[in-house]
Amino acid sequence: MKLRHRPRRLRKSNAIRNLSHETTLTADRFVWPVFITEGRNQRVAISAMPGVFRLSIDELLKDLKIASELGVQSVALFPHIEENLKDSMASESKNEEGLLQRAVRAIKKSLPDFCVITDVAMDPYSSDGHDGIVHEGQILNDETLVVLADMAISQARAGADFVAPSDMMDGRVGYIRARLDEAGFANVGIISYTAKYASAFYGPFREALDSAPKFGDKKTYQMDPRNQKEALRETRLDISEGADVVMVKPALAYLDVIARVKDHSTVPVAAYNVSGEYAMVKLAAKSGSLDEKKAVLEVLTAIHRAGADMIFTYHALEAARWLKG
Ligand code: PBG
Repeated sequence: MKLRHRPRRLRKSNAIRNLSHETTLTADRFVWPVFITEGRNQRVAISAMPGVFRLSIDELLKDLKIASELGVQSVALFPHIEENLKDSMASESKNEEGLLQRAVRAIKKSLPDFCVITDVAMDPYSSDGHDGIVHEGQILNDETLVVLADMAISQARAGADFVAPSDMMDGRVGYIRARLDEAGFANVGIISYTAKYASAFYGPFREALDSAPKFGDKKTYQMDPRNQKEALRETRLDISEGADVVMVKPALAYLDVIARVKDHSTVPVAAYNVSGEYAMVKLAAKSGSLDEKKAVLEVLTAIHRAGADMIFTYHALEAARWLKG
């Protein structure tokens, strides 16, 4: 047969495939999200996320040493807060001696080059389990910004490299930026959860932190999964308000959004391979339905190929180990 084009020529051998491949996944693009808890020697298993634990600070430091040996240099911290410390204003979030603040200081002391990212949102600290202040069943926007900025400043003071608002209140990037600058933290960056969708895939995370909303859902602030253009509007707003990085979340069911945001963004794009996406692959692998290594590397490569410069993933350490060969 006379065929001018035979794309299979470029797939003929491993050497040729490697010469012409378009996407290279490396561990230095991973951010490892970690749940932290009080105490010592604590590694509390999370049943919905096999292989993921709530770590006490001493255990966290051990795991971060391993991470850095594997080439993973960034961590995102999520504190598990005792129920009796939660209130409607998330007051514990600005406690200089709080779990999160102590964890940041401990990391910066023993691994000063590690990039530390802290989550800015009320839910782990809120007795209502929402990301904003609740008043008569509504989530207040502007009043919440003050709480978020206080939280961000406290995290910056502890030594965070980036604060990452994951709340989806309007105007929070600009407000937090101004308050950080005023407080002398001009060099602390903002990774904004820019297009964060109201997703079923956060279920296991909420179990990990005991942070599920006590009533209703998050649809008045997180985005509607039916929308794509709205993500571009959020991107434009966040960049104009001073975001250093914009994020799309979740990742797998939103690869189209990642690709479009990447085309429109003038700053790096992050994607969050969330808890439910992790659980899907992990549980399917456990039951023998999937080859875990191949599935994980395929998923992460796809997220990078779609346009994510950095990937938040619970698979970070295992994937880094596999990438080392
Ligand atoms: C808190 C927050 C959530 C996640 C990251 N930050 C949960 C939520 O918004 O309900 C989800 C991460 C995951 O599922 O892995 N605002």
